[in-house]
Amino acid sequence: HGFPLSGLLWAHLPEALADRYRLIVPDLHGLGRSSVTDEVTMAGFADDLSGLLDQLDQAEPVVVMGLSMGGYIAFEFFRRHQRRVRALILADTRAEPDAPEAARQRSETAQKVLAEGSGVVADAMAGKLFGPGASTELREQWRQIMASSDRQGVAAALRAMRDRADSRPTLGDIDVPTLVVVGQDDALTPLACAETIHRGIRGSRLEVVPGAGHMTPVEQPEQFRQIVGGFLDELYEHAPAG
Ligand code: MLT
Repeated sequence: HGFPLSGLLWAHLPEALADRYRLIVPDLHGLGRSSVTDEVTMAGFADDLSGLLDQLDQAEPVVVMGLSMGGYIAFEFFRRHQRRVRALILADTRAEPDAPEAARQRSETAQKVLAEGSGVVADAMAGKLFGPGASTELREQWRQIMASSDRQGVAAALRAMRDRADSRPTLGDIDVPTLVVVGQDDALTPLACAETIHRGIRGSRLEVVPGAGHMTPVEQPEQFRQIVGGFLDELYEHAPAG
């Protein structure tokens, strides 16, 4: 899931997919219901997820799906745990690192969140997450979810995003089937970011979802389900037996 969200982001997926796939939907360390930590890194998030797969006896490779910050983690997961990855779904995310000014702002925001609470980030992001068609109720629901995030976890994730690697140089190493999805009106990771990823990953598929901003799975749940379900069904029908 993205920042500063939780596994609730994927709440609409199970009804369509749970009959044929095992869905593992974590709350990332320090967010949602996961325990709080002072320090996290993208590598640490990725290793957490690998540890979770071990705990769940999930030895077979998995399809890793990440939205925004979740995409940053998916890139790192691929670099660190490549043998565990059957395919990637990269939604509303970017391969570029933070520019120096953005990195400086992350540090400032982290300080502010520690002093004043997660509402700082919730208020700043609420207006940018959604496309113009999103309802006031949806915006308010997610503002509240963000505001209820633990401040330590939010500040830690901000620093982790600030320090993340540039994933552009390793796009060419990704040799698993990859689906890139982006909301047509995504203001935080716009279409150009998705196109960079799509160009960099050989054979990847790009799907642009009309009527969605950055929160494609909750703004257009039906379209998102169809795109993801179609990708998975194709992947597993064509997978060699065993
Ligand atoms: C997210 O949705 O995860 C964040 O907007 C990503 C970011 O701030 O870089």
